[in-house]
Amino acid sequence: MSKNHKRVRVLLSRMFPANGIDLLRNEGFEVTIWESERPMTQEELIEKSQSHTALFSTLSEKIDALFLERCSHLDIISQFGVGYDNIDIDRATKAGIPVGNTPDVLSGATADVGFGLMINVSRKMFYLHKSIARGEWKYFRPNANLGIELGDKTLGIYGLGRIGAEMARRCKGAYNMKIIYHNRSRNLKAEREFEARYVGFDELLELSDVISVHTSLNEETAGRFDKTAFEKMKSTAIFINTARGLIHNEKDLAWALENGIIWGAGLDVTSPEPMDPGNPLLSRENVAVLPHIGSATVETRGKMAELAAMNIIEFYRGNKVPHLVNPEVLAG
Ligand code: GLV
Repeated sequence: MSKNHKRVRVLLSRMFPANGIDLLRNEGFEVTIWESERPMTQEELIEKSQSHTALFSTLSEKIDALFLERCSHLDIISQFGVGYDNIDIDRATKAGIPVGNTPDVLSGATADVGFGLMINVSRKMFYLHKSIARGEWKYFRPNANLGIELGDKTLGIYGLGRIGAEMARRCKGAYNMKIIYHNRSRNLKAEREFEARYVGFDELLELSDVISVHTSLNEETAGRFDKTAFEKMKSTAIFINTARGLIHNEKDLAWALENGIIWGAGLDVTSPEPMDPGNPLLSRENVAVLPHIGSATVETRGKMAELAAMNIIEFYRGNKVPHLVNPEVLAG
């Protein structure tokens, strides 16, 4: 597998944290960085990739059939992130291209955002912060600005994996919340650690005071939180999504909030991204929206840069790629 016989040229689709770039350079690789804030168009990405052997990508690069057909010469793609729904993994595998990612290191930071959104929505914090700027803080009003409390409530996790477990840890520790979850398969470790209870999807909807989405985006999860799902939730429920915007239907969510079908929503992911600044969700009292910042801390982004770089470095050293999404690619 060693590719040491040829010059390694890595295309970085963004200006990533310096530690990752330094690792690549110290390994003797040639590095090209797309320095503009604007992501490359797919045409630009395809064209630039022609003169490179490896791609260091993010979720905004469209690595689909067209890209993989035109860039089948790439030795490896390493994604800066845990999610890879922007990459057609089957086709990458068919093209013989290993795809790496950066799991684990971002679980705590991402769960912090879900946890923070939950508290913010329950106490209308984003909205009230903006109301002060509008000059609306006049008197103490005993019956105004009332939120709801989280203590001893039920947290329903849709997708209890690494990030979901960190959310469960925070909610159990801070509020003694009961944890229920719905997954493709049981997470016995989480059941032991958090006394989490596996439930069917409808039960998750019906029993949860807070529903937090932590699954990957795939055919089964896309659009799963739609009108029918929101209608099954409690009218006091809070919906949190820090995973992918396409897992909820945003029009249906707006409808559910407008009609008191659910109580509030906290989103770190929207559909589309970026969210339109005129989106009425942004001016709702019980809604908090963030611009996809789950992993955005100095510490976590640094660790992600290191992991993404090491996937490429170990590959060219002829070693096992530490975080390989499609291990079947190396089987043959
Ligand atoms: C961010 O959304 C990621 O997938 O890492």
